[in-house]
Parts: sequence; structure tokens; C-alpha cells
Amino acid sequence: AIFGSERVNSSGINIDIEHEWAPFSEGVQRHMTRQWKKGPIVGGQPVETAEVSNILSPYRRQETVGTMNGAGNAEVEMALDKATHAFNRWNRTDVSQRSACLERLADLLETHRDELVALCHREAGKTIHDAIDEIREAVDFCRYYAVQAREKFGAPMVMTGPTGESNELYLSGRGVFVCISPWNFPLAIFLGQITAALSAGNVVIAKPAEQTGLIAARATELMLEAGIPDDVIHLLPGDGATVGGRLVADPRIAGVAFTGSTETAQRINQTLANRPGAIVPLIAETGGMNTMLVDSTALPEQVVQDVIHSAFGSAGQRCSALRVLYIQDDVAQRIIELLKGAMQELRVGDPALHETDVGPVIDADALAGLERHVEKIKQEATLIAETPLSEECADGYFIAPVAFEINRISQLEREQFGPILHVIRYKASELDQILDDINDTGYGLTLGVHTRNEASACYIEERLNVGNAYINRNQIGAVVGVQPFGGQGLSGTGPKAGGPHYLYRFATERTRTVNT
Ligand code: SER
Repeated sequence: AIFGSERVNSSGINIDIEHEWAPFSEGVQRHMTRQWKKGPIVGGQPVETAEVSNILSPYRRQETVGTMNGAGNAEVEMALDKATHAFNRWNRTDVSQRSACLERLADLLETHRDELVALCHREAGKTIHDAIDEIREAVDFCRYYAVQAREKFGAPMVMTGPTGESNELYLSGRGVFVCISPWNFPLAIFLGQITAALSAGNVVIAKPAEQTGLIAARATELMLEAGIPDDVIHLLPGDGATVGGRLVADPRIAGVAFTGSTETAQRINQTLANRPGAIVPLIAETGGMNTMLVDSTALPEQVVQDVIHSAFGSAGQRCSALRVLYIQDDVAQRIIELLKGAMQELRVGDPALHETDVGPVIDADALAGLERHVEKIKQEATLIAETPLSEECADGYFIAPVAFEINRISQLEREQFGPILHVIRYKASELDQILDDINDTGYGLTLGVHTRNEASACYIEERLNVGNAYINRNQIGAVVGVQPFGGQGLSGTGPKAGGPHYLYRFATERTRTVNT
């Protein structure tokens, strides 16, 4: 059978169709003035702690979305204790029951879509398009891993051996998994990590990003409602270095799934490496210095559409986003002119509005970092275009989508996680040099290639160390079960979220040989 053949991805909402948009929008509106009050959830119970912070909307700084309690040492200890005791029972629970919980969770996410979309707008600053996609992706992860787990964990694999002996290979959970998730996919990646770990038989302690704890807490409540036992999933919102640091260093944990910066992944790896008693695996998805190469045979209009989508969609806050666009010199001027025009058409502003293309960045630190990069790169690069900001942007963490022409990718010291595009013109004779330059960055996440020359596309793809290559299309928005997603080198440890091998990374294997 083809993996996942009995499952289809969710359909979401077509907001351009009035009879779909109107009732959906009305539902979302009901949650647009709400205040949420959340915190750690341990043993199925919300925990009030001394550490409370106000959650402010990224697009209207003065608007409160709710309050969030942070976990302290007592909650970390309680979660570790309960999770450790729950592991054997959950690991031995029939996989079909575990998968059924994930499928109920998918249904609940759809039932509560209005609230979750509103939360994604208000806490994470997501546009309507991105918020709808976020819920869809979360739903798809739940259903996909449910099917995958049944297929892989349901029955042992019979191995062929000599007569008089039976040989079987089993998969099972590893133990307590710590899942540390990012703010840019506060529901999809949060649940993607957790549902993969749970479906494989692990128990989970989740540490969500500080910026998006409300969404994580709401999703945890839905997991409990879906029937995931209250000692099997625990939520510990709080500071990364203290709560995350403590969890990762604890001898009771059996694995870590992390999505976030390369530097943090390296720190987690160091902590795990120093742990006595076990070699603890890390599943890391980190950043990218993603490139797109456009040669002289490419279709300019399609290139520009895909560049706009890949570089500025989601305000460039995707690890898959395009950062450096290489254009062959004989078509460069034409494509740059088209790009300038398209950038003037982008609408930056209130993410709740149907017509908004680009929303805010997540917080003041993110904005300041991007502004510092723009100031610095201006000294050494040529400005191509900057999208005008509307008046409403004054209230939020907005940065204008901007494109610069630079000379070499080595001018960029690190990934800039926002709507900033760098363009480099190249001559056909320089192709090998630029492929070396790209590999030299050490990152290896997404690649875009635009060419009508198939041999050229194959050559470029083969030469570059990347996880996801997209030919003649945009390079963001990997679809669960269709484009398994994840990178290599500085971009991650390699596992592909939403792919048929992902659950193996959360499992141990046992071979059972019986002399018959
Ligand atoms: N999976 C996302 C994408 O493909 C990034 O995290 O855009």
C-alpha cells in the first residue's frame, strides 16, 4: 500500500468564495475581542504560578490578548515525575487507540477553527491566509501521523531467516520526549512534534515559544479533550533557557524535538552530549539561507510571482523562506523591474483583513534585529525596492518588505528572519562558483530553481546540499504527506516532518528471535 493512502489532507476555507468567507469571518469575529488566561498544564490541570506576563498583539502593541503564567521549577519537576510514570502504560496502549486520539484531535481543531484562527491573528500576527493554513497543517499532521503509526507500530515486521527460527522487528516509544516549538508555526509545528512523539508511544513535555503560549495552551486543552491521558501530555510555557534548559538537562528524558534557531539547537546538543547514562537523540529543524536560482530560460512573470510568495509571504518568517535570489545577468534587469512593480502592489497591514498580504513580525526584538540588518546592508548594497507601509502599521511591529542587490552571499553573516530579499546577478560561467558559495554557508534547507532546461535544474539540485528542492514554483508551504520537510547541515538533523520516515526518529527498534 502507498503510505497514508486512506487519508486526505484537509480542505481549509476558500476566502474568495463569499458563502465560505462570510460565516467563517463572522465566527472569527466573535473571538477578536476576547481575552485568554492560560498557563502551564500539568497532569491535566491548569497551574497558577507567580510568574504572569501580559500577551500583546504584534500588530497593535497596546492591545492585550490575554495573560500567560510561566512554569517554575515545581512545575518542571511535577511534569517530569508524572510523565516518567506514564510512559510504560502509554507505550503499551494499542497503537490504534493512540491514533484514534489524534484523529479526534484533528476533528476538534476543525470544530474550534474560528477561535484558533483568531488566536493566530492576535497572538502571532498571522494573516487570514496564513492562519487558515496553520490550522489545516495541524489537522493534517494529526491525521497523517495517526495513519503512519498504525502502519508502522501496529504489527511487527516479519524478517526472513533460516528454518527453525522466527525473526520479527518491532517499533516502540523511547520514553519522555521534550518538544520545544517555535512561534512562527505556533499550532502546526507545536502539534506536529507532539503528535509524532505521542503516536510513536512516547509521553510528552511541551515547551512552546514564549511569544505564543496561549495558542499552545488552547491546543493542549484540546489534546486532553481528544482523550490523550492527562499524565501523557504536559505543557510548560516559560523562558527557553530556564524551563527548556532544565528539561533538556534532566536524566529522565529520552529525546528532544526542537524547531528554532541553529544556535539553540547546538546548545541543546551540547547539553545532551554531556548527559551521563544515555545517548539522547535530538531531532532539530533550524534555519536556512535559502536561495533561488533563475537562469535565462525562466519565465519572468512566474519567477516574480514565486519570489514574492517565497520571500515576503508570512512576512518572511518561515525557515523555508527565500533569502537570496540569483538571476542570470541577461534576464536580471527585466526580472528586477517586474519585482519592483510587484513589491509596490503588496499590501502590508492588519493581518485580520482579507486583503492583507504581509502582516507584522513577531515582536520588538525581531523588528530591531531586522532594522539593524537593513541599516547595515544599505551601506554595501543597492536598494531595489521597498514596499510602502500603510498608516495602521505605526501601531505594530511592521517592517517594509525590501529587496537589495548584493555581490556575494558571504556578505550575509546569518539568516534574517523577515521580509528582506537579497538579489545577486550571475554570469553562466560563474555557476559553479555560486553553487560552492551556497554550500559554504553550511545551511541546507530549501532551494528554488527556475529554468526550462531540465538538465540544468538537475545539475544545480545535485550540487547543492538541501532538504527541499522546488523547481519552477515557490519554495514555501510544504504540504504534509506530499512534500516531507526538513534540512541538513546548519538547517537541521535531517528528519522530514510530514514524511513517511519521521516516526522512526521517535522510536526504538527491537528484534525478537525465537528458536522454534
Ligand atoms: N514547513 C514550512 C514551509 O514549508 C516551514 O516551516 O514553509
